[in-house]
Amino acid sequence: MKVIEDSAPCLLHLFLLAELIVHSASRPASSPAPCRTFRSIFHQVDLLMGLSRKLHDLSDEDVLMFESMENRLDTLPHLPHSAEYFRSFKVNESLSQLSLHTQSFRQHIDWLKLARENVSLPSRAAEDSSTHLLKLSNLLNASLHQMNEEVPQLPPLSLPIASTSFDVLQFSVEISDRLKIFCHWSKRVLRYLQRLNRCPKH
Ligand SMILES: *[C@@H]1O[C@H](CO)[C@@H](O)[C@H](O)[C@H]1NC(C)=O
Ligand SMILES: *[C@@H]1O[C@H](CO)[C@@H](O)[C@H](O)[C@H]1NC(C)=O
Ligand SMILES: *[C@@H]1O[C@H](CO)[C@@H](O)[C@H](O)[C@H]1NC(C)=O
Repeated sequence: MKVIEDSAPCLLHLFLLAELIVHSASRPASSPAPCRTFRSIFHQVDLLMGLSRKLHDLSDEDVLMFESMENRLDTLPHLPHSAEYFRSFKVNESLSQLSLHTQSFRQHIDWLKLARENVSLPSRAAEDSSTHLLKLSNLLNASLHQMNEEVPQLPPLSLPIASTSFDVLQFSVEISDRLKIFCHWSKRVLRYLQRLNRCPKH
């Protein structure tokens, strides 16, 4: 009798341990694949961040001059920065938003590439950015698929005609600045998603 009494707490421990093992065994099923995708997404955002600086080839002084001018592209995504946004954060919605914003930047950058070519300005950085935005789009698409979410489709935007070099330079600076902000925002969202998914730190 004594033996059974003594073993009761021990059995409880065993039971708890077994449950712990079952839980931790079932958890990774929802973890590694999204985590791998998030890491690839992070990498693409890093590359884009580097490219965003090169979208114009102006001196710091000239950039300041353009930055002091009014923004003209109100089609560029507006990013919610508030603490409220991150408090009421929904994973599926943030990924959909990231996807839509990525598509929007890609349309703006493809347009910028043509605009720069039209006025004989170098367009290589725009072309490379477009390539990485497409990769980013595909990765976000994969991520949404992993969560059984629909991939949102951004309708074609109507963008202005940039007829002078001055216009094109102004648009280049505006898109460059906004792309940089988007990259920072995306990283913040991604770090949040990685924490929610208990992804290992890299
Ligand atoms: C995200 O998920 C929530 C609940 O799981 C759902 O109510 C909402 O409609 C989803 N949003 C999108 C954009 O799919
Ligand atoms: C580039 O030039 C073509 C031909 O003049 C014009 O149709 C097009 O709108 C221009 N693109 C941009 C982005 O300004
Ligand atoms: C998303 O990926 C699926 C295949 O995984 C593809 O059929 C679909 O066209 C993609 N959608 C977008 C918007 O890239």
